Amino acid sequence: MRNGQFSINEKGHLVFAGCDTVELAEKYGTPLYVMSEDGIRENCGRIRSALMDKYPNTLALYASKAFSTTAIYKIMKEEGFGIDVVSSGELYTACQAGFPMEKVYFHGNNKTQEEIEFGMDREVGYFVVDSNYEIDLIQKETEKRNKKVKVLLRVSPGVSAHTHEYISTGQLDSKFGFPVEGGEALDAIGRVLECSGMELKGIHCHIGSQIFNKDAHRDAARVMIDLLLQIKKRFGVELEQVNIGGGFGIFYKEGDMPPAIDKLISLIMTTIHSLCSENNLELPKIIIEPGRWMVGENGITLYTIGSVKEIKGVRKYVSVDGGMTDNPRTALYQAEYDAVVANKADEQPEELVTIAGKCCESGDILIWDIKLPRVDHGDTLAVLSTGAYNYSMSSNYNRLRKPAIVFLRNGQSRIILKRETHEDIVRNDME
Ligand code: LLP
Repeated sequence: MRNGQFSINEKGHLVFAGCDTVELAEKYGTPLYVMSEDGIRENCGRIRSALMDKYPNTLALYASKAFSTTAIYKIMKEEGFGIDVVSSGELYTACQAGFPMEKVYFHGNNKTQEEIEFGMDREVGYFVVDSNYEIDLIQKETEKRNKKVKVLLRVSPGVSAHTHEYISTGQLDSKFGFPVEGGEALDAIGRVLECSGMELKGIHCHIGSQIFNKDAHRDAARVMIDLLLQIKKRFGVELEQVNIGGGFGIFYKEGDMPPAIDKLISLIMTTIHSLCSENNLELPKIIIEPGRWMVGENGITLYTIGSVKEIKGVRKYVSVDGGMTDNPRTALYQAEYDAVVANKADEQPEELVTIAGKCCESGDILIWDIKLPRVDHGDTLAVLSTGAYNYSMSSNYNRLRKPAIVFLRNGQSRIILKRETHEDIVRNDME
């Protein structure tokens, strides 16, 4: 079900988080990313009450690849979250926001030497080690600096998440982590335990993204606790942290039925509690890493409709002033979105149309089939649930300028990221 932040006002305009979206489009221009800060903070609260307030020794990290700007790191800091970063760019942004480094986990299947140095310079809380190559890089760097860093080991638990194959990561055939199956994870644990520069704090897995099936997370939790047990048996150590990753699904369009987050967390936690007590294992610190779930439904993108082209008996193309540059997900993952004509939100849907972007590419489609009221150029289109992996995956294809981002709080709007200018587009051109 669509969250409760949407309504229609007396002008027939779509209202999001207390703000008239047509007025937002007029004030800030389009395309425009609009995010509900109220909704993001509310989600933080929901995770806190389902996890941190309910179970001691737990933490949620915001997986910041879903949406990374200085503003969001400031919010996550205020809300008591940790974060996961996957590049020196995200880490740098978090530093700029004054994020406490001890709550930062640095992921990535191919961190470069430069990134590892940067992470150590900034005293990032944890490196989540993903490969033998990285074990060597980190060990060498710590020797150079005569210091020790805290690490988790990323493993692939062999759990299939039944999501799009491009966003599925926990199965055996994955570029991420050490497979549990076949013993590679255990061998890597042994290597890390012998490294003088690393303090092994725990294990991490992430099975995929936009997952609706609760059993997948429960199964991953089982594999992780079983691995803890094997580590204890083989090396005589009980690791302190188990990170179950993110991947919690959200609502994009009618028919999507993501599980309730509190029920899902409680399933994960009860599974872990009972396995630990059956096996006499000390309860580790349990960490989760939601990205999409925190921001996805709290974002919309506003566009202005331009050309409308009808090919009789075939298709009606409604083109907007953005496209795969601000939302590549339809082209990449066949993602499906819902949309509302923001200035005609009280009108009945009449015709089936295709929402196309403005890029020189036939695949630049945002929505293949949607029923909308009769539209015309100048109308404002709101595409919904665009808060995750849209801005963060945006590009300058066709040298389009990236849109501005506006945050909404208590019925007020403020710009947290400027629209790019033509000067920005040529900023790094040397000749
Ligand atoms: N933790 C790790 C280690 C991850 O790799 C990811 C996402 C997350 C947490 C957060 O997953 P989430 O809760 O957001 O599902 N660009 C794709 C999604 C890629 C996800 C990559 N990893 C998309 O637009 O659907």
